[in-house]
Amino acid sequence: MEGKPGGRLEQLRRRLGDGARLFAVLRQASARLTVVAALAAVLAGVLNPVFTLTSGALVASVASALEEGVRAPSPRILLLLALAAGVYVLSLVMGPVRESAGDALMRRVDEHLALRVMSSVAQPRGLAHLEDPDVLDRIAQSLGAVTAITPGMAAYYLVQLWAQRLQAVLSAVIVFAFSPWWAVALIAAHAVSYRLRRWHWDQVTNVLHGRTDLLRRSHYLRDLAVDGAAAKETRIFGLEAWLVDRYRVTALDTLEPIWQRRRNGGLISLGATTALLVLEGAVLLAIVRAGLDGRLGIGAVVVYSQAVVAASNLGVFNDAQVYVSEGTAALRVLVGLEREVPTVGANLRGHRPADGLPQESIRFHDVRFHYPGQSGEVLDGLDLEIAAGTSLAIVGENGAGKTSFVKLLARLYDPTAGRITVDGVDLRELDPAQWQRRVAAVFQDYVAYKMSAHDNVALGAVDHLDDRAGVEDAARRAGAAAAIERLDAGWDTPLSRELTGGSDLSGGEWQRLALARALFAIAHGAGVLILDEPTAALDVRGEAAVYDRFLEMTRGVTTIVISHRFSTVRRADRIVVLEHGRIVEDGTHADLVAAGGRYARMYRLQAARFSGGEPVSA
Ligand SMILES: Nc1ncnc2c1ncn2[C@@H]1O[C@H](COP(=O)(O)OP(=O)(O)OP(=O)(O)O)[C@@H](O)[C@H]1O
Ligand SMILES: [Mg+2]
Repeated sequence: MEGKPGGRLEQLRRRLGDGARLFAVLRQASARLTVVAALAAVLAGVLNPVFTLTSGALVASVASALEEGVRAPSPRILLLLALAAGVYVLSLVMGPVRESAGDALMRRVDEHLALRVMSSVAQPRGLAHLEDPDVLDRIAQSLGAVTAITPGMAAYYLVQLWAQRLQAVLSAVIVFAFSPWWAVALIAAHAVSYRLRRWHWDQVTNVLHGRTDLLRRSHYLRDLAVDGAAAKETRIFGLEAWLVDRYRVTALDTLEPIWQRRRNGGLISLGATTALLVLEGAVLLAIVRAGLDGRLGIGAVVVYSQAVVAASNLGVFNDAQVYVSEGTAALRVLVGLEREVPTVGANLRGHRPADGLPQESIRFHDVRFHYPGQSGEVLDGLDLEIAAGTSLAIVGENGAGKTSFVKLLARLYDPTAGRITVDGVDLRELDPAQWQRRVAAVFQDYVAYKMSAHDNVALGAVDHLDDRAGVEDAARRAGAAAAIERLDAGWDTPLSRELTGGSDLSGGEWQRLALARALFAIAHGAGVLILDEPTAALDVRGEAAVYDRFLEMTRGVTTIVISHRFSTVRRADRIVVLEHGRIVEDGTHADLVAAGGRYARMYRLQAARFSGGEPVSA
């Protein structure tokens, strides 16, 4: 959030912008509820001064009846009594109406904005923005994760604030009727008090927003402690107490400067409130003296003194104000995010259709790449041509750049230099979403969706979510079907112990399911298959069986497989060795073994391990 306070005009512009944005969102979330809430707020704001006036008139009538010695209530008294009672009942009814309209609005607004955050974050086809701490800070801020105040809450409290402000303004008008000078003095004092407290609050929230990164760290520690997925390790390594302690320290670190400022704010509040009380006391005294002097009737004294008290909401900086300020600030961040995310990092562009590609080849021309914001070259002048419809295996040591290579191929990033072409067309010119739909991938860190077994496979081609036969076929080929059919609800079993009726799978079973998902995508038209360590968790027999069934289904599909297992690698039409971001060997399994280079050495080492002998030195 903008740390610089900026000039007065700038602040005013910002506030007006905040208001306009909140209104736009309210209208989009529900125009009808907005109207209901606004009417309820206006009514609530008006009813209180009306009650004040009515009760004043009633007191005046009763007093004059007493003076005249009339014992029975006159029709005027009865009418005023009825009016006061009616206003009172109406205000009792309007409270809940305003609250429930505000509550419904709050939910609608937050739901509407969650959808907007989701689509804004999903819009760039690459990953760069999701690895940018500044963007992540702003996502957290726009979801209200920093202050625990969402724009929906701003909507709820805005209704309350309107009612309070309107009531205060009307009450100030009543005071004005008593004495313009006193009214102006009250309004000026409230304005100063409001500005002071607002200024102080802005200081506090600027500090808070400036510490979003720290706050995200402390939230991470908290989640780690309560998250079932991490529980195995946190138990084994005895991290629970350490996590709690670390969380406390991080949270304290984050909040300490804020508490410090809050304490100062307490003093400002106390000072402002005391000064206001003195002023209000003086006005009340003036009213009472006017009453005693006979310049004001008893009814007027009642009305004016109530109005002085009710006008104190003029400059109040209360919870409602805080919620509105913070919620609209979150909204401002969200709108900024929507505007800027398309330009964050190197957003991927391109409009040419990717249908049916590749027909001929995918080619890397002198491709260089480093991750955004990092200096080390991951790919360092990589040249490679992959013929369409063939299979290529990539081998290389940890960190050689294999996964990065396929991430570029799937266009999750663009190269920093050089180019990748598909049938001669620069990948940068292709529509990134369309090209990504041509690619099916099982990454090393594939996702285990906490959804049904069926969905875990069918998400490979979300347009064919109902294709149960296709799901079962893909699962059979990936060797995943047997494990799923054993589950209580079969394909409908949720694959998470956290869900009712849910179950979990073994590591290898999950991997087979991820393979099935990629195969399902291929069956529905994807043309490039990327398998990054697809069999690392499979037992040896399972791996062989998967490959035998796999081949028929992936014939004609351009397949890139990364593996440290030579039993997997050797089946590929062609193998390349990647080292320090370049291709250093290239050929079939037989070629490379015969060449006696790095591949041959790695192969012999692994073969020797499996046969139980000593590694054969090259
Ligand atoms: N998202 C990222 N941001 C920054 N650096 C990254 C990122 N992902 C990987 N790297 C770095 O890029 C280099 C290559 O990583 P990459 O994942 O491509 O290696 P790999 O060959 O797949 O290794 P492995 O066999 O261990 O899977 C590594 O030095 C790694 O630290
Ligand atoms: Mg990798």
